[in-house]
Amino acid sequence: MSLKSVLRGCGAYLPDKILTNDDLARMVDTSDEWIRERTGIRERRVAAEGENTSDLAVKAASEALRAADLTPADVDLIVVATTTPDLTFPATAAIVQAKLGVEQGAAFDIQAVCTGFIYALSAADKFLASGQNRCALVIGAETFSRILDWEDRSTCVLFGDGAGAFVLEAQDADAAGERGFINSYLRCDGRLVDLLYVDGGVSATGSAGYVRMQGNKVFREAVIRISQAMERVAADAGVSVHDIDWFVPHQANERIIHGVVKKLDLRVDQVISTIAGQGNTSAASIPLAYSAGVADGRIKQGDLVLLEAMGGGLTWGAALLRA
Ligand code: ACO
Repeated sequence: MSLKSVLRGCGAYLPDKILTNDDLARMVDTSDEWIRERTGIRERRVAAEGENTSDLAVKAASEALRAADLTPADVDLIVVATTTPDLTFPATAAIVQAKLGVEQGAAFDIQAVCTGFIYALSAADKFLASGQNRCALVIGAETFSRILDWEDRSTCVLFGDGAGAFVLEAQDADAAGERGFINSYLRCDGRLVDLLYVDGGVSATGSAGYVRMQGNKVFREAVIRISQAMERVAADAGVSVHDIDWFVPHQANERIIHGVVKKLDLRVDQVISTIAGQGNTSAASIPLAYSAGVADGRIKQGDLVLLEAMGGGLTWGAALLRA
């Protein structure tokens, strides 16, 4: 029997605290107008003191399990994409496993910064399609506010906290029909590490450090690499980017998203965008946007959906699935 991964349900969670552009303008030399024009962001969420990445992840995962009509007893794989783990070890996935009450299977984290969810989805699919596992929670969760230099206006205005989750189930490929994860295309070019990194870490400094980014250089790399990944993943699946119903991009910058739409001759109304209210939530942004598209009825069962991201590393990639 040939197996494939089918998306059974998704979920999202955002912390309560809202930080607006005007709030930021009282903290650093910036303005609502500058942030909106350059990025499309109006506000973002910030986790409360004591609210950790695993807490956000558990809330999104619980909602995804409810949507899938499954329980923690059904889950035998947890993959958490995060750059902001609760602790240096164990993996945030292990903490999430315990908090959810999952007592079986495997759990591990994936670190590919903003591309983390695409990497995590791709990894989970391999476990399910091989028959090694039956039901995976794939979670993107971040408390990016904890690694921001709140005096650096070039980075602190861009990011937000949040979590999103997918429940993937291994199903008989014939019975699943067209539904399910189709393929992915993953890349990394470590020579570009200096464009976007954190200036601390366990081995190098013994502290978490802060995000450092040459934003305009990252911007210049983004549209071309993302577009190439999207065209490649579609071509590998034997379809064209023009066959997709929905485009769910990593929410880094509205101008990057519109640049990709223009380059690939897509329509703006095919884009699921959450950037205005959430900012860049790194590995969480794709499942958060996907969940928004499902919740408001745009993404329906059977739709062809293309996901993409680019982030620190540089890493980038795309994935194609049929909802
Ligand atoms: N408010 C006001 N002015 C600002 C701010 C701010 N918040 N931030 C920077 N500026 C100033 C700069 O100092 C500069 O001033 P100068 O000309 O006097 O030197 C001017 O604005 C222009 O700066 P640029 O960096 O050239 O501005 P740009 O138009 O490139 O926009 C931005 C900056 C929004 C960061 C953009 O480059 C971007 O979105 N880059 C890509 C980000 C991204 O995709 N990251 C990848 C994912 S994140 C991850 O993986 C963790």
